[in-house]
Amino acid sequence: MVAGCGCSATHVSHSADHRPIGVFDSGVGGLTVLAALEQALPATSFIYLGDTARLPYGTKSPASVERYALQCAAALVNRGVQALVVACNTASAASLPALRQAYPDLPVIGVIHPGAQAAVAHTRNRKIAVLATEGTVRAGAYQRAIERMDARVQVTSIGCSVFVALAEEGWGEGAVAELVAKRYIGALFDSPDAPDTLLLGCTHFPLLRKTLTALVPNGVAIVDSAETTARAVASLFADRSWDVQGRGGSTFLATDGPERFARVGSLFLGRLIEVSAVERVDV
Ligand code: DGL
Repeated sequence: MVAGCGCSATHVSHSADHRPIGVFDSGVGGLTVLAALEQALPATSFIYLGDTARLPYGTKSPASVERYALQCAAALVNRGVQALVVACNTASAASLPALRQAYPDLPVIGVIHPGAQAAVAHTRNRKIAVLATEGTVRAGAYQRAIERMDARVQVTSIGCSVFVALAEEGWGEGAVAELVAKRYIGALFDSPDAPDTLLLGCTHFPLLRKTLTALVPNGVAIVDSAETTARAVASLFADRSWDVQGRGGSTFLATDGPERFARVGSLFLGRLIEVSAVERVDV
């Protein structure tokens, strides 16, 4: 067990390893995680797979999401990755045990444990609100992870599926986003017992960060599982003395059309993705 990522991998390599790290998500949302990973590990190469043909995962059953995640992982493993990052919160919630069972020698890092750890570190009043998709909330993965870290923490989980569509439409800020955010979390801070930490447990929600920041009272911390996962992956590599001094850069794969992946994905990655840089694949 490696502190900080919830990863149970046992294989340790001390030789130089320039193989890429595989990252997958239900679509383009995980590019927020990739952006943080590129920043944390600039010399590392990444292969990102977005399962855009089957997006969204957040409203699907856990059995379907687990099956999709195993197929995405297989596609990346076939390309020779040295670790797998499950950037999708819904897939992390539904499929980590199955992925670790399928690939016992490969580090498999999900977003739940790092996000939960950061939220627990931030909260002072031991009250955390988790905003996620319906599937992540139903799976209760953040709740369990947080309670394992500190059983005294009270967790309120709120499914905010409409945020996913808003983020993809480029409407993370503005009147519509404000109205939807108020509808989801407006009442949360009415009581004096309100949470002091808001955990963004979905790849898309960092795009609503400004809207959420304006809505929550002063002093409420907003924790983003993308950043915390990138830090956990970076520390996993440092802990294991792996040589990650490769050439850096990312390769993009998508199960649906490259055009939408490149256009909407650029919003999430924070830089331009050329259509020609996206390969369509079947998984
Ligand atoms: N990537 C998903 C997550 O983080 C959000 C989009 C979806 O529902 O597929 O939960």
